[in-house]
Amino acid sequence: MEIMISRAKPDQLRQKPTDESKLGFGDILTDHMFLMDYEKGKGWFDPRIVPYGNLSIDPAAMAIHYGQEIFEGLKAYSGKDGGLYLFRPRENFKRFNRSAARVCMPELDIDQALDGMKQLILLDRAWVPTGEGTSLYIRPTMLATEPHLGVRPASSYLFYVIVGPVGAYYKEGLNPVKIYVEDKYVRAAVGGTGEVKTAGNYAASLLAAEEAKQKGFTQVLWLDAAERRFIEEVGTMNMFFVIWDEVITAPLTGSILPGITRDSVIQIVRKWGMKMSERSLSIDEVTAAARQGTLKEAFGTGTAAVISPVGQITYKGVDYIVAGGKMGDLSMKLYNEIVAIQYGEKDDPYGWRMRI
Ligand SMILES: Cc1ncc(COP(=O)(O)O)c(C=O)c1O
Repeated sequence: MEIMISRAKPDQLRQKPTDESKLGFGDILTDHMFLMDYEKGKGWFDPRIVPYGNLSIDPAAMAIHYGQEIFEGLKAYSGKDGGLYLFRPRENFKRFNRSAARVCMPELDIDQALDGMKQLILLDRAWVPTGEGTSLYIRPTMLATEPHLGVRPASSYLFYVIVGPVGAYYKEGLNPVKIYVEDKYVRAAVGGTGEVKTAGNYAASLLAAEEAKQKGFTQVLWLDAAERRFIEEVGTMNMFFVIWDEVITAPLTGSILPGITRDSVIQIVRKWGMKMSERSLSIDEVTAAARQGTLKEAFGTGTAAVISPVGQITYKGVDYIVAGGKMGDLSMKLYNEIVAIQYGEKDDPYGWRMRI
């Protein structure tokens, strides 16, 4: 299906950031957006790129009342060679379609969605920052637009993609973050929606994150809903621990998001010949290892921060310092490896990079 493009008029152009070193995360969006509509019986139609602007939505749209909304997060990277790259974008759209299926929304044709997204990025190419650690964040989104009060899957949907230049996700950058182990609230239970990217999961996480922030922590580490014992994930990142010579991350049992950075780290660690385990890991095992000095490193993985080293874990009022509060060797090596692949600075034996 051909994409209709209507370019922004001069008075619709948005203010570009002037200082890339001050880019934060998530506040600046570009001149255009990609949209596409869906109706039951008709399928997806009217793919178009239009000037960025407000959506017009019926106040009874079902996304607003019943949370039928899903999204993705990925990035485009500007290489030193002048190339523009995506990192495993098909994986994001496959996950998007799994999210859609879980909350009874229509799936996308991945090639069509990728094409719309690429054309949008090329049109707003001048917005892709080139400074160290910067990128263009991409937010594919789908919401239920049918106006109806009453709980059931909607019959009409809107898919859109918005993009914006970003710098570091955490103000700490690559400096280790402090994590609060949450033993009161839970994020998701097995059988729920924790393994997909639907809005409600994030609403459910807010209160715990706010309370942790007030206590001086960057994020909360979630434990499993049934026993509050096993490590799940952190905020918007999957968690990895290095205990002695074993690299450990939680298995995908249904309540954590299968991160694309998580999968990439697992593959790299295995390729490097290290012991990589996807297994249940209790918070007691982590704190015992910290006490015995065998907890070498802890880090989060996610598109936004790539690798975010954890310098302190606090559980039931006790602070455990990890890797002397510094970024560990493996965290650093993994960060450098992934970033070099993303920005086109080294070969990509995994076939993860896609040139736009
Ligand atoms: C809850 C949650 N966990 C983990 C991740 C990391 O996933 P990815 O590596 O695909 O960005 C994200 C970010 O998308 C997330 O929202």
